[in-house]
Amino acid sequence: MKNIILIAPPGAGKGTQASMLVEKLNMLHISIGDLLRNEVNKQTELGKSLEVRMQTGKLVDDEIIFEVLKSYLKDADLSKGIIFDGFPRNISQAQMLDSLDIKIDSAIYLDVPKSVLESRILGRKTCPNCKTGYNSNFENMKPKVEDICDKCGSKLITRQDDTKDVFENRYETYINETQPVLEFYKNKQILFNIKSLDKDEIFNNIIKIIDNTLPLEGI
Ligand code: AP5
Ligand code: MG
Repeated sequence: MKNIILIAPPGAGKGTQASMLVEKLNMLHISIGDLLRNEVNKQTELGKSLEVRMQTGKLVDDEIIFEVLKSYLKDADLSKGIIFDGFPRNISQAQMLDSLDIKIDSAIYLDVPKSVLESRILGRKTCPNCKTGYNSNFENMKPKVEDICDKCGSKLITRQDDTKDVFENRYETYINETQPVLEFYKNKQILFNIKSLDKDEIFNNIIKIIDNTLPLEGI
């Protein structure tokens, strides 16, 4: 199985595409953001400090990220193929990933304009129970009953950092720190660009990348 990285700004659909890949290919989805939010929910000392940091829209310190990632990898089944979602987010993290014994086959960039990202972030709702994602700003992604999960009936929640101000900071962090990572993988000749906004079209192209049937220029 292949190991891939999804690199994209906030709200571009990293988590959405990763969930679709898990469903279709049973790959291992590693979302650093989700791992950090799990820690926040435990309200440990570390969790409390992460909560404050993430609410600024800045990156969490590399040392903490490496610890969280290494401890997750220790017990994970890596043979299924990995989807890295939200890692690496700066050059030093990309170098750290290089030093692990994990071959990265493709880095996939989801290219989405800022205005669309903002609308997706501000409309995002998630089921805290079964983790299904919805979006109140897109007709085809709304739940059938407002704020209620179609699948399990739980009340949907909004992420703390999904406000206009924090989004602006997250986007700026992405431009300054994460965008250079694209060049890092372009130089390794494993970077693919996907410019589509259509969820299924993006997914079909990711599948083609995994199957080695999409040229590097992407769509
Ligand atoms: P993280 O949780 O990774 O957040 P993010 O990068 O800001 O990205 P999002 O999760 O908001 O967006 P997404 O691309 O997953 O989009 P989604 O699929 O949900 O990180 C949060 C914080 O943790 C960071 O700010 C940082 O502080 C810290 N952190 C994380 N990783 C770190 C690292 N490596 N180093 C240091 N710090 C780190 O989609 C968004 C919405 O749009 C959803 O409602 C979805 O339903 C909808 N949608 C998706 N695709 C489409 C589509 N094609 N059409 C219409 N709607 C769509
Ligand atoms: Mg996400």
